[in-house]
This record gives sequence, C-alpha cells and structure tokens, in this order.
Amino acid sequence: MSGLIPDSFIEELLARSDVVDVIERRVPLKRVGHEFQACCPFHNEKTPSFTVSPKKQFYHCFGCGAHGSAIGFLMQYEGLEFLDAVEELARSAGLQVPKSGPQQPRPDTGLYDMLAACARFYSEQLKNKPTAVEYLKSRGLSGEICRDFEIGYAPAGWDTLIKKLGTDDKKLALLKQAGMLSEGKKGVYDKFRDRIMFPIHDRRGRVIAFGGRAMSDDGPKYLNSPETDLYHKSRELYGLYLARQRSGRLDEIIVVEGYMDVVALAQFGFKYAVATSGTATTALQVEMLFRATDTVIYCFDGDAAGRKAAWRALEATLPRMREGLQARFLFLPEGEDPDSMVRKHGADEFTQLLGTATPLSEFFFEHFTESIDISNLDGRAKLVQQAQPYVESMPEGVFRDMMTERLETLAQHRLQTRTRQQRTPPDGLQNRGKPAQQRTPMRTALAHLVQNPSLVEKLDDTSDFDGLVNDDIQGVEIFRELVDFCAKRPNITTAQLIELWHEHPATPHLQKLAVWTLHGGEEEQAQEFVDAVNRIRLGWVEMLLSRVSNVIEQPKEYRALQQRQQELKKQLEGQQD
Ligand code: UTP
Ligand code: MN
Repeated sequence: MSGLIPDSFIEELLARSDVVDVIERRVPLKRVGHEFQACCPFHNEKTPSFTVSPKKQFYHCFGCGAHGSAIGFLMQYEGLEFLDAVEELARSAGLQVPKSGPQQPRPDTGLYDMLAACARFYSEQLKNKPTAVEYLKSRGLSGEICRDFEIGYAPAGWDTLIKKLGTDDKKLALLKQAGMLSEGKKGVYDKFRDRIMFPIHDRRGRVIAFGGRAMSDDGPKYLNSPETDLYHKSRELYGLYLARQRSGRLDEIIVVEGYMDVVALAQFGFKYAVATSGTATTALQVEMLFRATDTVIYCFDGDAAGRKAAWRALEATLPRMREGLQARFLFLPEGEDPDSMVRKHGADEFTQLLGTATPLSEFFFEHFTESIDISNLDGRAKLVQQAQPYVESMPEGVFRDMMTERLETLAQHRLQTRTRQQRTPPDGLQNRGKPAQQRTPMRTALAHLVQNPSLVEKLDDTSDFDGLVNDDIQGVEIFRELVDFCAKRPNITTAQLIELWHEHPATPHLQKLAVWTLHGGEEEQAQEFVDAVNRIRLGWVEMLLSRVSNVIEQPKEYRALQQRQQELKKQLEGQQD
C-alpha cells in the first residue's frame, strides 16, 4: 500500500513525529517510568493497559492487542486509510508528502479536476431534463437526497460531454484517461448517454468514477466506469465517504449491493450504508469497513445469488474477525432489495429487521449443516474437513476459539488445531486469555531485534547463518534479512521498521514479537539476545553433528563441529553463573 510513497519518506516522517505527541493530543497519557499509559481507546476498560513507548515509537494495548506506529494509531483511531494517515501525520510534522514515489507516479490531479467537472456537468444537466427528474421522483428520491449524493444526468447525445469538457487534445486525453469515453471505429464518444449518474467518491470525497443507470429497459441497466488510475472497483465502497463525513467512527455499517439501495436507505435515515457495486466483497473492502466501524451488517437478497454473495463476503471477513468486531448477515425475502424493503415497510420495521440479522458464526455453521448430514460419522468428518480451513484462516483469539469449540461440538470430535497447541505454553504474551506464543530462541532473538534494532551491533559475526534456509532452522531467513536490515540502520525505531516492512510477509509475525514483554534492563536484554542467537547456533551445530556420519569417516568435519559445540556451550554456560 505504501507503493505510492517512497519508503525513505515514511522513515523520515516517523523520525520527525513523536507517537507520544500524536496520541497525547487525542488520549490523555500518564507517564509511568519510561513509558506512558492510558485506558485503551480501542476497548472498554477501567484500569489502563494501553502503553506507549517513546523509545520504540510504538503503542500497544495488553488488553485488546491493538498496536502500531503513529501512522497505525491514526488509521485505527481516526479511521483513516494508510495514505490519509500519512498525509495527516505529515501535516502536523510540517512535511510535504512527495508527489510521486519511485515505483509509480501519483495520479495527475488534472484527472480529479476533470472528474469533478463531469459531476458538475451531470448535476446541471439534471435540472434541464424533466423526464430524468421524474424518473428519480418515481423511484421515491427526494431532491435533498439527490443533492447529497450529487446524482446527475448524462444527456442522450454522443458527444455532449466531449463538446463541453473535451475542448482540446489535452482535455480529451484526460476524459479518456478518466474512463468517461468509449472508442469505436469512428473515434471516441461519450460513454454515458441518457443515464442517471451516480458519482463514486474516494475516501477523501473526490469523484473517481461513475455508475450510470438507464431509465428504460433497453440496454444494460447499469454502466460503470472502467478501472482507471484512480478507480479500482475492488478497493472502493460506494457511499463510504458520505457516511464517514457524517460521523467519524460509525456504530455500524450496512453493506448492500446497489447504488439505489445506499441512496434509499440514506433517505430513510440509515446514513451508514455502502455498496460493493455489483462485485464480490473483497478483503480490502472488509479492511476499510472495519476501520470505520466495529459492526458490519451484510444485507443481501434472499435468493441463491444473494446467498452466494453473502458467502463470498464471509470468506473475505473471517480472516479479519478480530475480537470486538462483529459481522452479521441479513437475508431479504426473494425479489426484494434494501431499497424496496425500506420503502414498503418503513424505517422502524427495517430497524427491527436489522436486529434479526444472523451472526456470522451461525451463518457459517448453517452453511455446512444445510448440505451435510452430521447425524453420521462420515458427515461429521466431512464437516471438519470443509469447515476447519476456514476457522484456521481466522486470527487467533477468543472468537476463533469459540468457533473451534462450536465445530468440535458439532463434529463430536476434538480438533488438532494450531490454536490448541499454542494454548499450552504458559510463558509469553498474556492477553485476555489469548494463546501465548512459545519463546523459542529464534522468536526471542527476533523479538529483541525488532524491539531494539541497535542490538545487531552485539553480533560480531553472523556468517555462520549464510545460506541457511527455513528448512534448516525455522525462521532463519527472516532473521538474516532482519540482521542485514538493522546493520544498515541500527538507529531505526521499532515503528519505522514495522512501517518500512509493511508489505513483507513476515510483518504480522514481527508485529506480535514487537509487543512481547522483555524483562530486565538494557544489559540483561542484550545478553538475552546474544544467548538466544548462540542457542540457535548450537541447535544448528548439533543438527549438523547428527548428520555427519561419524568421526572415522569425516574426522575433520566432525572435530570442527564438536569444537564449535563446546565453544557455544561454554559461552552459554558462562552467562549462567
Ligand atoms: P441491481 O440489479 O440489484 O440494481 O444491481 P439496483 O441497485 O437494485 O438498482 P435498481 O433498483 O434496479 O435501480 C446491484 C448493483 O449491481 C451493479 C450496480 O452497481 C448495481 O447497483 N450492476 C447491476 C451493474 O453494474 N450492472 C448491471 O447491469 C446491473
Ligand atoms: Mn433495486
């Protein structure tokens, strides 16, 4: 996601900001030793478990597990997207976000202006087109709600938009780039003709695309802007910008399928509906939703297509079901959509209906038990086989544990899941009953390095790890990468490291290690780190020893390894007395 902004800028931004400052302005902090504390803003609590470390430039809640950098805090607290959080932070640090990164130029602002001009043009045209106004009235829309959503009308000609806004080559090129034109044998023409126009806004309220509805039955009902530099269907949610504008963090969000559903719901007071615009709900969309709210209600048709859409939404949602979040599913009677329902039954009944939405867990298990007969052993085995991978896609936590337990009850079978194995070790992060991670030497070494990158200087020679892969020592690849990285920038903070490694597949793992409690003072911690690394080495040497067949056939190798083993043991023992 940071592809648009150079890493060097993120690094500088975090160096010039202070996470304590950023949080202090929003949540009163109390100094306790080297850190700051507060009652966590992300869950309800009476005794503070939210801590902010100036050294790591990182916050962490021991209660709910929330953690991150100043950028992460703004995303979580203000509900901002990554780029917006970066801009916000840059503003308060007095920095200018660079216009383009090395990988990809930022879209031309001319494009935004052009799309805004198109939206204005369509709004004006609506005033001159009584049949279009009539159509909107016949659909029950008020003038006020049409203004709120900036609904407009695209005239019937082939080139009214071109004539108005594509007056020179440069403008014409922009119109094309914005997805507003179609191309035929005879050249370009207006893509949207004789249609009701719904502008689609990005999270910052800029028009980035349109959906256009036909007023009659011939031709496709809706035409949508194609994917452009600005518009990626899978990353947008129609209506989210307006909903967020009315209230920063929303109590709930209703996810529907159509533009009309969003607009109709808003007119009836449900100003927190968003639409996926006729596509399956994507992981990115779910992330956006949960940044804006804790409760998502998917509202789909009751027919087969609606059920399928709901299941796809569930698949995208499960891996993001952290504690404190809720997803529910409301299935409407066949032939109805949210628009028709709210008009037929009114706001009160629709509210009641929302209250009856099925919890995700119920929908999940019903989905399987409807098609699998679990009264016999074969069926129960099939249930486990099909449902378990989904449960395992969920983040660790109480919710996943409960789903596992439910699956076990239905299957009448104890499951061997990762959750269970990890529940046993008593040591580690003690989060509200969350399973603790076992403190292996590798995890310990990584945790120290992530939390205190300058420790890398304690390792004089790491060449013995060269060329090793995860099949040799679990985690060694990331360890080597991290050592190299820290060696180049030993003064980096945890927060900077995590942000710069944003897209690295190991980052979720490192984030967990970034919030491990490490005991003792600076010296003890450095020793624990060096010991952990030596333990990894020792483990590897002993593994090699077991592979070298024997002292007679490979005397040199065997002796060298034995010697190394003794050295390492001595070093480790030396530390123990
Ligand atoms: P629907 O067919 O349910 O339409 O499509 P709707 O939103 O209820 O609109 P009305 O009430 O018939 O006017 C749901 C969504 O699927 C996309 C649109 O985003 C639409 O809002 N869609 C539908 C298309 O992109 N193209 C189509 O031809 C139809
Ligand atoms: Mn409809």
